Amino acid sequence: MSKKVIFFEVQGGSDKGPDGYRKDTMPMVHALERRGYAAEVIFYDFDNQQAIFNYVLAHGIAYVSRINPGNLKHESAYFSMLRQLCEEGIIAMPHPDAMIGYGAKDALVKLTDTSLVPNDTFAYYTIKELFENFPSSLAKGERVLKQNRGSTGEGIWRVALVDGGQDILHTTTKIKCTEAKDNHVEYWELGEFMAFCEKYIVGDNGMLIDMPFLPRIKEGEIRLLMLQDRPIHVVHKKPYDSEDAFSATLFSGAHYRYDQPEQWQHLVSSFLMQLPEITQLLGGYDLPLIWTADFILDTTSDGHDTYILGEMNCSCVGFTSQLELAEEVAEAIISSILAAHTSIA
Ligand SMILES: Nc1ncnc2c1ncn2[C@@H]1O[C@H](COP(=O)(O)OP(=O)(O)OP(=O)(O)O)[C@@H](O)[C@H]1O
Ligand SMILES: [Mg+2]
Repeated sequence: MSKKVIFFEVQGGSDKGPDGYRKDTMPMVHALERRGYAAEVIFYDFDNQQAIFNYVLAHGIAYVSRINPGNLKHESAYFSMLRQLCEEGIIAMPHPDAMIGYGAKDALVKLTDTSLVPNDTFAYYTIKELFENFPSSLAKGERVLKQNRGSTGEGIWRVALVDGGQDILHTTTKIKCTEAKDNHVEYWELGEFMAFCEKYIVGDNGMLIDMPFLPRIKEGEIRLLMLQDRPIHVVHKKPYDSEDAFSATLFSGAHYRYDQPEQWQHLVSSFLMQLPEITQLLGGYDLPLIWTADFILDTTSDGHDTYILGEMNCSCVGFTSQLELAEEVAEAIISSILAAHTSIA
């Protein structure tokens, strides 16, 4: 019997369809089967990790990871199982280190030498670094502080001075903070707010990214859905139209429009041109099977439009609203298997 493409999921959770799987998983399984490839979904479970590992080693040729590792109680055990499977020659979609390298928010800081990320983008891994550096970056202009964990805008704060034009800030300086989760506003003293942010920094993968606030977010955030090195779909997310709103999440009232990559030629071609350099700067791993890159418009000093990268997601990207893409995804999985086998032969 031919070896299988294994899809890893977790049991339960709000993203599952009536069959218990993510709604876009079985379309991929069936698309592979129609092309003569066997495929199977396995629920990852820490208590059965050894049995799962043995099964995949015996019956698998490749895995597709469809789990948000941040939601796993045993994230590092899952990653180490994937790493071992890679070492045993199972084709990785993606490699766990690629998930970490592309998906963590500090990927942005590794890309400041490209035109995609402003030079004054910083990562803080300790509360001391935050206290030492954030006041001076905020003195120069409005900022966005981003936690690494979580999603849908939680712990993503737009921070502005209540009274602009201050060169030196103090712990008592008044600031206005808007959270991307729902665009709600809170007024804080700078020192107290930084102390509150400690919860984003402590613990596994804790960090805060400090980047300039990009006012052209009003025109929308542009998400490229990527299939390895190819954009296959675009979502244009326009924040709710109010003074403080800057969030592109649906929950906050943003409006979504679905476009074709051809409608974003300038963005697509400049991003693809820089993709080899980005891959190198982020560790040189094969690009994930399905991933996203989010962009916000900015203006260069000579008045041209430029696109700034806001974040990448690559550990559990779905495409439930475009299930027809399952065919293209299956083709890409098969190409990767064939390519790996040609290079081994
Ligand atoms: N530098 C910025 N300037 C303006 N707006 C920003 C900036 N960075 C982020 N935003 C806004 O905040 C939102 C949330 O930020 P981001 O996407 O980084 O966080 P997230 O919580 O990880 O979201 P996701 O659910 O997309 O993974 C973005 O969708 C965008 O609308
Ligand atoms: Mg986002």
